[in-house]
Amino acid sequence: MSHPSFPRAALACAALLLAASAAQAEPGRLLASQCAQCHGTNGAGPGFDELAGKNANDTYDELIEMKYRSNIEGIMDRQARGYTDAQLRLIADYLATLPGNGGD
Ligand code: HEC
Repeated sequence: MSHPSFPRAALACAALLLAASAAQAEPGRLLASQCAQCHGTNGAGPGFDELAGKNANDTYDELIEMKYRSNIEGIMDRQARGYTDAQLRLIADYLATLPGNGGD
């Protein structure tokens, strides 16, 4: 008798453990992966504005401004509202460490 579900469960468990350790090492990277849909892999385009390699404080200030704008004016105002201020800080800090393409 074989138990085909056992190895699959063990693999899923290992994947979860790996994901958990990655989250501990680089929480900003995981949070920022969502941004790649529109800003390109690693925030370096092509797509909308390049995010990689910018000053972390500037990016953070922009995200905070978008989050707390009273009227939702664009896509980013909605994106920014999905994160806590601390998460936005992690995202901005992480994106600043990435090499950009020298774009805007
Ligand atoms: C659904 C598409 C979409 C996603 C997902 C998205 N963005 Fe954006 N982002 C835009 C667009 C479009 C603009 C430019 C227009 C605007 O500001 O609304 C923009 C602009 C920005 C700007 C301003 C850049 C500048 O040079 O002025 C920042 C900072 C930014 N996004 C950060 C992020 C971060 C961080 C994430 C992930 C948490 C993210 N975006 C996810 C679409 C997106």
